[in-house]
Amino acid sequence: MAAGPTGAVLALLGVLSVCAASAYGSVAEREAGGEAEWAKPCDGAVFRPPSALGAVGVTRSSGTPRPGREEAGDLPVLLWWSPGLFPHFSGDSERIECARGACVTSRNRRALRDSRTRALLFYGTDFRASAAPLPRLAHQSWALLHEESPLNNFLLSHGPGIRLFNLTSTFSRHSDYPLSLQWLPGTAYLRRPMPPLRERAEWRRRGYAPVLYLQSHCDVPADRDRYVRELMRHIPVDSYGKCLQNRELPTARLQDTATATTEDPELLAFLSRYKFHLALENAICNDYMTEKLWRPMHLGAVPVYRGSPSVRDWMPNNHSIILIDDFESPQKLAEFIDFLDKNDEEYMKYLAYKQPGGITNQFLLDSLKHREWGVNDPLLPNYLNGFECFVCDHELARLDAEKAHADSPGDSPVLEPHIAQPSHMDCPMPTPGFGNVEEIPENDSSLVQVRDHCICLRCLWPHSEKGRTHNYAAVP
Ligand SMILES: *[C@@H]1O[C@H](CO)[C@@H](O)[C@H](O)[C@H]1NC(C)=O
Ligand SMILES: *[C@@H]1O[C@H](CO)[C@@H](O)[C@H](O)[C@H]1NC(C)=O
Ligand SMILES: *[C@@H]1O[C@H](CO)[C@@H](O)[C@H](O)[C@H]1NC(C)=O
Repeated sequence: MAAGPTGAVLALLGVLSVCAASAYGSVAEREAGGEAEWAKPCDGAVFRPPSALGAVGVTRSSGTPRPGREEAGDLPVLLWWSPGLFPHFSGDSERIECARGACVTSRNRRALRDSRTRALLFYGTDFRASAAPLPRLAHQSWALLHEESPLNNFLLSHGPGIRLFNLTSTFSRHSDYPLSLQWLPGTAYLRRPMPPLRERAEWRRRGYAPVLYLQSHCDVPADRDRYVRELMRHIPVDSYGKCLQNRELPTARLQDTATATTEDPELLAFLSRYKFHLALENAICNDYMTEKLWRPMHLGAVPVYRGSPSVRDWMPNNHSIILIDDFESPQKLAEFIDFLDKNDEEYMKYLAYKQPGGITNQFLLDSLKHREWGVNDPLLPNYLNGFECFVCDHELARLDAEKAHADSPGDSPVLEPHIAQPSHMDCPMPTPGFGNVEEIPENDSSLVQVRDHCICLRCLWPHSEKGRTHNYAAVP
C-alpha cells in the first residue's frame, strides 16, 4: 500500500474477481437465453480473471480513505445496471466517500457476479422485468431510482413490481431516499415577490383569459384534458400547448415544447401574466408533484391543481392552492375562479405565504431543511450522487451487521430482509378525468392508455413482455 491511496485502490481492484465471464457467459448470452437461470453466487476462490473494474481504473474522490476496509479488500461495489445512468464524469468506475465509509460505484456489467458487488442500481424508466439480471444473488440488494412520472413505467406501480426492490428512491415520502421535493429549490423560490396585480388586470383588459393552460403531452393516465375541456365551457382558458390549444405563444422559441418545462426567463415572464394556472399532473400518485405545481407559486399565480392526493401536506400554508377535487363539478370550480378573479382581497389571501413568516407548514420547512441533496445548488450533492451514497452507507451497515452476526450469532441476530413497499410508488388505478368510464367511447385514446398500461399489466404480471415467466427470487 506504499503507492498511496490511489495505488491502493487500484491494487485492490486488480484482484477483484469477476465471475460472470467464467461461470455464466456474457450478459448478452444470458439475456438471449430463455430459461430462468440458477446459479451459485461467486465464492471468488475458484477463478479470478482480470478485473473489470481494475482494468478501467478508479478516480479517487476527495476524502479520507478507510484503510481498514481497503486492506481487508472488501470495499463494496455498487453496479449501475441501467446503461444510460452513471453519475460520474469519466470512466466506468469511481470510488465514492460516504458518511459510513467508501464504496466503488461502477457501470461495468462484468462486475455483476462478483461477491463484492453488493447492490445493483436500476433507473425506473429503463427497468424491464424481462431484462433484469437473473438469477438474483442473495447477497445483492436491488436499488431503484425512479423520480420520474410513474407513467414512464407502470410496472413499478404494481405491488409485485415494486417489491422486486430492496431500496427505493422515488417521489414518495415513504421511499427510502425520498425525492418528493425534487422540483422545489427552496423556500426563497416560493417567496419570490409577485408582479403587481394591476399588471395582470391590464392583460385581462387586453383580452387575456384569467386561466392559463400549457400542456403538450395530451393522452396521459390522469386524463387531464377531459376535465380541462369541460372547464373551458364555463370559464375562459388560454391554452398554449398542443393540448386543447386555442392561442399561440408569442415566439417560436417559446413555442418549442422543450422550453415549456424550463425556467426560461422569457417564458416565466409570459406565464406570470396569468392569475390562475391549471396544474394537472400527468399521473395521480401520492407525493408526485412537479414544476406544474411549484412554478405558478414561484410566479405568484394560484395553481388550480390535480395531482398528488396528499398535496396539502406539502403546501406552505393551508390556503395557497385551489384543489380541483374540492369542487363537485367543473362548473362550480369555474364559478369560484371567477369569484376570486373579481375579488382582489380574496385572491391575495392565496399568496399570503409570500409575506414574512407566511410559510407556516413545519413539515415542508423540515423536509427542505433535512434533505441532503440540492436542486441546482452548487453546495449540495445532486440526488443521484446522494442516492449512491445512501446505498453505499446501507451496504456498509449491512456488511457490519453480517460480520457482527458471524462473530457472535447469539448477540447479533440475522438482519431482516429490507423490501420495498407499494407505498413507495403509490399510484391508484387511473380513472377518467371527468365523467364515468362507461360514457367514454371505446376508441378514445386516453382510455386505451389506461387499459394498455395498467389493466393489462396487472393481468399479465409476472409474465414478461414476451410471455415468459421469470423467477425473481434470490438464489441462496
Ligand atoms: C388554516 O390555518 C389557520 C391558522 O393555523 C387556522 O386557523 C385555520 O382553521 C386553518 N384552516 C383550515 C381550512 O384548515
Ligand atoms: C431483497 O428483496 C428481495 C425481495 O424482492 C428479498 O427476497 C431479499 O431478501 C431482500 N434482500 C435483502 C438483503 O434485504
Ligand atoms: C370513434 O368512433 C366514433 C363512432 O363509433 C367515430 O365517430 C369517431 O370518429 C371515432 N374516433 C376516433 C378518434 O377514431
